[in-house]
This record gives sequence, structure tokens and C-alpha cells, in this order.
Amino acid sequence: MSRAASRHTWSNRWAFILVTMGSAVGLGNIWRFPYLAGDSGGSVFVLMYLVCVAVIGLPLLMAEILIGRRGRGNPVAAMLNTAEEAGRSPWWAALGWTGVVGALLILSYYSVVAGWIADYLFQAVTGARAETAAVAAEGFTALTSDPLRMMFWHTVFMILSVGVVARGVVSGIEAANKIMMPSLFLILFLLMLYGAWVGDMPSAVHFLFDFKVEAITPRVVIEGVGQAFFSLSLGMGAIMAYGSYLDRNTGIGGTCLWVAGANTLVGLLSGLAIFSLTYGYGLSPSEGPGLILKTLPLVFSHMPGGRVFGALFFLFVLFAAWTSSISLVEPFVSWLTERLGIHRVKAALVTGVPVWLLGLAVCLSFNHWSDVTIFGRDLFKALEDLTTKLMMPLSGLAIAIYVGWMMGRAVVSDEIRLTHRRFALWFGVLRYVVPIGIVMVFFHVLGLLK
Ligand code: PHE
Repeated sequence: MSRAASRHTWSNRWAFILVTMGSAVGLGNIWRFPYLAGDSGGSVFVLMYLVCVAVIGLPLLMAEILIGRRGRGNPVAAMLNTAEEAGRSPWWAALGWTGVVGALLILSYYSVVAGWIADYLFQAVTGARAETAAVAAEGFTALTSDPLRMMFWHTVFMILSVGVVARGVVSGIEAANKIMMPSLFLILFLLMLYGAWVGDMPSAVHFLFDFKVEAITPRVVIEGVGQAFFSLSLGMGAIMAYGSYLDRNTGIGGTCLWVAGANTLVGLLSGLAIFSLTYGYGLSPSEGPGLILKTLPLVFSHMPGGRVFGALFFLFVLFAAWTSSISLVEPFVSWLTERLGIHRVKAALVTGVPVWLLGLAVCLSFNHWSDVTIFGRDLFKALEDLTTKLMMPLSGLAIAIYVGWMMGRAVVSDEIRLTHRRFALWFGVLRYVVPIGIVMVFFHVLGLLK
């Protein structure tokens, strides 16, 4: 415990809110959210997402921070410490491991996608143009069929992410977020104005917010839950690791409201900006994972000020991806430093190298190895489905059961410190609604996986 007692903490409450927002706001909000919304009929998906964030995401976010802070250690140690305190089996540490390993698996493909963004930023800055839709689409295909180019940017991005974590919790992670997150909000604001100015904002608003009950299908519900998990960084050790550096006096509830609120807002606002540009140019919103990469370069090539705003846009996405990937590196690094006593710099390297290698294979899964399949999916899709459709919901379920039923009401209420009524509401939702919700969705996923 002596090491735990001397653990450093974030500089203040806002620093914690900022880093947690940094983890949450990422490719999930800007790349994944719009393309899923585009593919799943817009507003219904948005509505499901909002409901899932409020009912499942927010309570779980609080629960995960609570475990980290109570356990005062990396995700594995936090689970061990809290399980010991509650007189539960040390096997609960498996939940910590699921998070640590899941984070590394996500990082392997996350970094490849972030590499695409870095490539597009480079193109935007150097003035590359896409005059026609065909050229824009070809541009994306040219990138994904060139493994060396993808590997290059993936490598750059891994160095950026691992480098920040190597510098430390406060002087690395917190410092990076303090620069990138405010810049990100500022750029998003400018992009919104730009979207409203040159794009077709009314169509974007209709697409994202017109309520159509009849379009709710099991698939949309599943995608909504999955997206709530992904965009709030749930179940993957990242939030637990960050929570472990939170001081005892900061209220968890209010902090989480800020994080979940800002995260949702960034998703919606970037959706508005992206779709108003897409519609403004008469393009279709259902383009799949290549959405922002296929449509936006074309739009930016033709709209006034497109070159500057194009570069700003990709910088915005890169910052978002970077602050998230840092939080994917941290769980294992903290385990290595605390458990094996390795220096942080070395721990960051030990973490980065295997993930980087797996990422190289992911780069190949788009081209040379595209016919190598795992359960009918190429490596990229297999890793994405494994982490977002299986690992995230299952560990979310386990966290809800653990905090709701295993840790003991007294410990939980001592740590979360909510008023009596709020506690009753949160605890009730965590014990019943979250597990039942996840189990129901999970059965559907299993049906889909067949
Ligand atoms: N929340 C991040 C995003 O939206 C992704 C992420 C998932 C980060 C899990 C950490 C842990 O892009």
C-alpha cells in the first residue's frame, strides 16, 4: 500500500475532467459516430445513442472511476485491492486484465485509422486536391491499398502516443490534454460556423434529429449501445486507470456529467458540421467507414476557404485521436511500472512495440492479407468486433455486477458520495437497468454473430 499512498494525482478537478474528456472524445465521435449514423438512418441511431449514454454509459462511467479511485492502482491492482477489501475472490482481477488487453487490441487498429487522418492532414497542408467524387474515393482506396504508406503513419502515430505516456501522468498525459483539448473545442467551434456558412445545416439537422419511431430496429439499438461504450471509453481499463489518479475529494457524479455531456456534444456538433458539408455538396451520408475520408476532401477542394478548414478539420480529428490513444497506452504502462517496477519510459516501449507490430498486420489486412479471415472477417474487422461487440459490453456487464452487487453498499456509497436520493437512483440503475440492458443487447449481438 505504501506505493499506492505515494501515488500522484491530477493537478485539480478540471485536469481530471479534461483528460477523461480527452479519452472519451476521439475517432469514436468524429469518425465512427457520423458513419454509423449515416448507415443506420440518422436520427433513430442518434436517439438510441443518447438514451444509451444516459442510462448505461453514465452510470458505468461513474462505476469505473469509482473502482479506480478506491483501488488506487492500475486496473489489475485496483480490482485486486477492491476485491480484497470486499472479501471477494482475487479472480475479479481478470476484469482488470480484460481492460488492459482490450485497450491494447483497440489501440492496434485505432492507431491505423489515426494514421489515415495524419496522412489526410499532411495532404491538406501540402495542398492536395480532390476535384471529383471519383478522385476523392480513389484517394481513399489508394491509401488503403498502400501498406507502406499506412505503416508509416501508423508508426508516427504510435510514437506520438507512446511518447506522451512515457513522459508521465501529469507532465505527459495531463500536459498534452491541456493543450489539445481546448484547441480541439476551438477548432470544432470554427468548423461549425464554417459548416453553417458554406454547408447545408438544415438538412444536417433533419438528418440527425428528425424523430422517426418506426425506424427503430434491433440493429440500431445494438449499434447505439456499442457506440455509447466506445465513445465513453468504457470497460477498457482507460477510465479505471485515469480514475486511480483522482484525489479523494473530487465528486465523481458531477465530473462524469461534464465528461458525458461534452463527449455527446462533440459527437453531435461534429456530426452537424460533417453532414452539413456533405449535404451542402449533394453527397450521400451512407458511405461506411470511409465517410469523412471520401466526402470531405472533395467538399474542401471546392468550398471557399476549404484548404484552411480542411487542414483544421484533420488537425481536430488527429488531436481527438491522440488524446484517446494515450488513454489506451496508460493501463498497461501503469501495470508494468507498478507491478514490475520498470521505469515509465521502458514500460511505454514494452507496451508500444507489440501493439505497433499488430498494427502492421492490420495495415496489411486492407490489402495483401485481405483474404486472411478470422470468423469471416479480415483482421481489422475481427479486432473491431471482438473489442466493441464482445469485450466492451461483457466487461461493462461485469463492472455493473461488481460495483452493484459485490463491493458492498457501504463502500460504494462512501466512495461515490452522492446525496441519498441520487445515490439510490444511480445504484438502482447500475444494479438492475444496466445489466439487464446489456444482457438483452448481447443476445442480439450473438444472434448477429452467427
Ligand atoms: N473513446 C474513444 C473514442 O471515442 C475510444 C476509446 C475506447 C478510448 C476505449 C479508450 C478506451 O474514440
